[in-house]
Parts: sequence; C-alpha cells; structure tokens
Amino acid sequence: METTDEPGAAMVALTCPTHGPYTAWRVAGAPVVAGLNDCPRCIDARQAEADRDGREKAARQLRARKLRQLADIASIPPRFAAATFDGYQVSTPGQARALAICRGYAASWSSQCMKGGSLVLTGGTGTGKTRLACTVANTIIPEHMASVCFGTVSSVTRTVRATYARNSDRTEAQALADLLVPDLLIIDEVGASTGSDHELGLLFEIINKRYEHLRPMIVVSNLNADDLRKLLGQRVMDRFEECATVVAFDWGSWRAQAGRA
Ligand SMILES: Nc1ncnc2c1ncn2[C@@H]1O[C@H](COP(=O)(O)OP(=O)(O)OP(=O)(O)O)[C@@H](O)[C@H]1O
Ligand SMILES: [Mg+2]
Ligand SMILES: [Zn+2]
Repeated sequence: METTDEPGAAMVALTCPTHGPYTAWRVAGAPVVAGLNDCPRCIDARQAEADRDGREKAARQLRARKLRQLADIASIPPRFAAATFDGYQVSTPGQARALAICRGYAASWSSQCMKGGSLVLTGGTGTGKTRLACTVANTIIPEHMASVCFGTVSSVTRTVRATYARNSDRTEAQALADLLVPDLLIIDEVGASTGSDHELGLLFEIINKRYEHLRPMIVVSNLNADDLRKLLGQRVMDRFEECATVVAFDWGSWRAQAGRA
C-alpha cells in the first residue's frame, strides 16, 4: 500500500526479514536503491556494530601503543627481549627450581605487586639469571601492563648521580622518588664491579625506599648470598629476607658449553 504525502514521494510499506514490517519514504517511480530504504532497526544495528568495531580498534591501538611505550621504558637488553619461560632449558633440579620460582613469581604478579614481593637471583656467571629476570618482565608487561625498569647498578644510580651536576634542575630526592615509579625494578650486576661507597649508598637508598613502599624488585648478582650480605650489609639483606625469595643459581655456565651463545 502506498500513500503519497507530497508530489513525487511515497510512503512504502516494506518488510524486514529480521524485524518485520516498516515504512520508508521513496520517490515515486524511482528505482529501489540498496540501503536507502533499509529497515531503520537494521541501520541502527549496523551503526552500533560499526561503533563497537571502531571502539575496539581504538582500544587495540591504544593497548599496542602503551605496550610499545612500556617496552621502551623497560630497557630490556635486546638479547632477552623475546625470552620466554618455555625457552629456558632445564637439565638440573636447581634450574627446574629457579624456573619454577621465577614463573610462579610472574604468575602471582598481582599479589607480588601488592605486597612488594621480590626476588634475589644469585650465582655464577652464565647461569641464566639475567635471562630469567628479563623473562619475568617479558611476561608481566603484556599480561598486566606492568611498568618495569631494568638496569645495572651503575645505570640505575646514574639518574640520581646526574642530579649532582651544577646545571641540574632536579634534586637527588626527586630522582630517588622516580625510582619508586616502575612497578618492578630489576637491578642487574650487583657486585660485578667494585662500585664506589657512594654508589653502594645509593643502592641501599633505592632498595630501602622500594622496600618501605612495598615496591617489588629483582636483584641479580654474581655473588653468593654470604658475599652479597658483605657487600650490601645486614640491613639490606634483612629487608630481603622479609620480602624476597633468594634463588641460588649453582650450576655451570651456559656460555661455557660448546656451541652455545
Ligand atoms: N637454562 C637456559 N636455557 C636457555 N638459555 C640459557 C639458559 N641458561 C642460560 N642461557 C643463556 O646463556 C646466556 C647467559 O645467560 P645470562 O646472561 O642470563 O647469565 P647470567 O647468569 O646473567 O650471567 P652473568 O652473571 O655473567 O651476567 C644467555 O644467552 C642465556 O640466554
Ligand atoms: Mg647477567
Ligand atoms: Zn531489520
């Protein structure tokens, strides 16, 4: 049935297979143009879908941008940027334990983050300490959008030492406060070089502040627990005994084995 309200235009009764009858305006005699006389509820549904797709795409792009930013901030060494727990090969019970502890730490990140849970990875060279520490980062960044900062003792303390320059517009206290910001701070090569007393003092400050603020850390060192205690002092080690799992990497060097990097 058609009713003409104005010259040349007609109200036509149409039926949508999904939504049933509806009316549409059509210029009398004009051919039906696909889409022009579509059911209004179908048009609404298509629009809603397009909006949702657009929002989802925007959210995906935002997430990808944020992940790139978090990866930049983390400064994971390129060698370990793609390291995974599955790629960590196990041939001794000690390696299995180290892997299980680090994997468990990453898997329980939400609670570690709340309670300031930390790891101390100690042991000989080439045993995979840095690799596993980076793997924790590679896991919690995409899974939790966690912010991570990886550095050696000298690179971590550098930002603090830079504030001593005469032209610095920041104070030591501000730089120390900045080191509280990352959800996880990984400090590698503790004890590898004989840092100055001042550097050690800064390291203590950083560890102590993060401990007090319940901020997680992974401390990596070639030294065994006793030598680490001598280096960092009883006060620091007491803090780790309270909040950290200490893992001894007491097997041979991966690097020393023929044919390996
Ligand atoms: N269990 C393992 N499975 C696979 N690769 C490993 C394993 N252990 C070590 N590696 C590899 O051996 C090399 C040395 O590992 P890594 O740098 O993590 O050792 P490290 O304990 O940090 O040594 P250092 O104390 O000298 O810094 C890396 O290329 C790492 O990927
Ligand atoms: Mg290392
Ligand atoms: Zn419809």
